[in-house]
Amino acid sequence: MKVLVTGGCGYIGSHTVVDLLNDGYEVIIVDNLSNSKIEVLDKIKKITGKSVTFYQYDLCDKEKLESVFAKEKIDAVIHFAGLKAVGESVQKPLMYYENNLFSTINLLEMMQKYKVYKIVFSSSATVYGSPKSLPIKEDFPLSTTNPYGTTKLMIENILTDLYKADNSFDITILRYFNPIGAHKSGLLGEDPNGIPNNLMPYIVKVATGDLPILSIFGDDYDTEDGTGVRDYIHVCDLSYGHVLALKNPQNGLKIYNLGTGKGTSVLELVTMFEKVNNVKVNRQIAKRREGDIASCYASNEKAHKELGFTCKYTLEDMCKDSYNYVKKNTNL
Ligand code: NAD
Ligand code: UFG
Repeated sequence: MKVLVTGGCGYIGSHTVVDLLNDGYEVIIVDNLSNSKIEVLDKIKKITGKSVTFYQYDLCDKEKLESVFAKEKIDAVIHFAGLKAVGESVQKPLMYYENNLFSTINLLEMMQKYKVYKIVFSSSATVYGSPKSLPIKEDFPLSTTNPYGTTKLMIENILTDLYKADNSFDITILRYFNPIGAHKSGLLGEDPNGIPNNLMPYIVKVATGDLPILSIFGDDYDTEDGTGVRDYIHVCDLSYGHVLALKNPQNGLKIYNLGTGKGTSVLELVTMFEKVNNVKVNRQIAKRREGDIASCYASNEKAHKELGFTCKYTLEDMCKDSYNYVKKNTNL
């Protein structure tokens, strides 16, 4: 089975490509490398011993995208490509709407034209806005607070309308909670350029001495220790969820949360990181970050029941693997 992976050089995409190759799938990647590096392809080969077919194309370029569909006999698509920085999306909303929506519409048009009906789409827990209760279930009301999140919700709506109009499509929407961690080999992981926005990349940079101190955004939330609670999931558990989604015999439009089902506070994560890596992470309490919610964690029951989804990795693994990746990829 030949799978087109858009954004396959990125953080979650590259881990999923490894799982697909290990599972015997053939992989085609389309990625414009706007937020990833070509070296990822060699690293995927090093881990799996297998090669992928790569096109450095922008999905917004419809002609180039069509050339891929015309040449390759694609059976299914996993669509990771997109811009994902919440803060940047507030500053540059048009860039986010253009990139995330045009690319997806082009992709779906090509799929329809070339009769490729199976798609797995990367959505996000951000579509739940501020949840009314916890854990969050797939049928909770949806709302967003920033342009990035709105692109995810708009794409979910586009997919829903498309399925209503043409139910040859077989669509899986995966709502990710907070992916962290890295491949055990230390070859694949996440190391954003500049100052990170997300917690784990920030912790790692403080641990390596690249940044002086972690600001904990608020210790007055209604949570056990006052700091924000999230559902951190190892990227390798998350990536395998995509393979399970491809294997799911159930057709139609399906939506699943991918999270561990467990909430962890900022303080718990920092403390665990220090313990397992035997490093100090300087920190201070700062004021709340605008737009943040107190707590967010998944009910993963549906994914467990229908996909057989389970999480193998612990919070210790996530902390170890995140640090290991950055240590191996910088000259400390
Ligand atoms: P990433 O930035 O590492 O990977 C995305 C990839 O898509 C990059 O390699 C980038 O170069 C490519 N890309 C972007 N726009 C493109 C375009 N127009 N044409 C071709 N390639 C393009 O991000 P990630 O963390 O691997 O996330 C993958 C997907 O999962 C994204 O859609 C993201 O919104 C979603 N998601 C991520 C998180 C998270 O915390 N990482 C959480 C929820 C959802
Ligand atoms: N935090 C800090 N200090 C930091 C960074 C974060 O205290 O320097 C705290 C936040 O306040 C929050 C927690 O750490 O309580 C997690 O924050 P992240 O920025 O790592 O993650 P978010 O839950 O805010 O959002 C992320 C992605 C979204 C995505 C969401 C769910 O950025 O795009 O996970 O998948 F929608």
